[in-house]
Amino acid sequence: ALERTLSIIKPDAVAKNVIGEIYARFEKAGLKIVAAKMKQLSRKEAEGFYAVHRARPFFNALVEFMISGPVMIQVLEGDNAIARNRELMGATNPKDAAPGTIRADFADSIDANAVHGSDAAETAKTEIAYFFAATEIHGDRS
Ligand code: CMP
Repeated sequence: ALERTLSIIKPDAVAKNVIGEIYARFEKAGLKIVAAKMKQLSRKEAEGFYAVHRARPFFNALVEFMISGPVMIQVLEGDNAIARNRELMGATNPKDAAPGTIRADFADSIDANAVHGSDAAETAKTEIAYFFAATEIHGDRS
């Protein structure tokens, strides 16, 4: 089915100057960038985005990392976009990420892991709305 998912290129990958290389992977996999913005997240924005992880031991480090520099945020649209993007990203911990995945190629650690991608249809919906108004999304079903 045609889906949308939220993708974030994290501060480590932005700093490495690989936004274009990551975008090329999305495009080659048939995912279309239908909205995008570069943003320096505030602490409140990062905490709100990751609110589901608030009780986890890694929450504070995650928030600190996510506000350490600008991120590139995009909505990807395509057939099975949520799962497809997760395949492209590879496992959360780059040590476990399959060769050729974004995290295997660009990530350094479980925090500095290059990219975020929504994990399910409901979270995709919430995460997209967290960063984009409907009028900022320019997809085939906008
Ligand atoms: P992300 O997909 O952005 O969602 C939550 C992030 O928390 C995850 O990627 C990791 O970068 C980070 N994180 C740090 N430690 C862990 C952990 N033990 N399990 C899951 N995520 C972790």
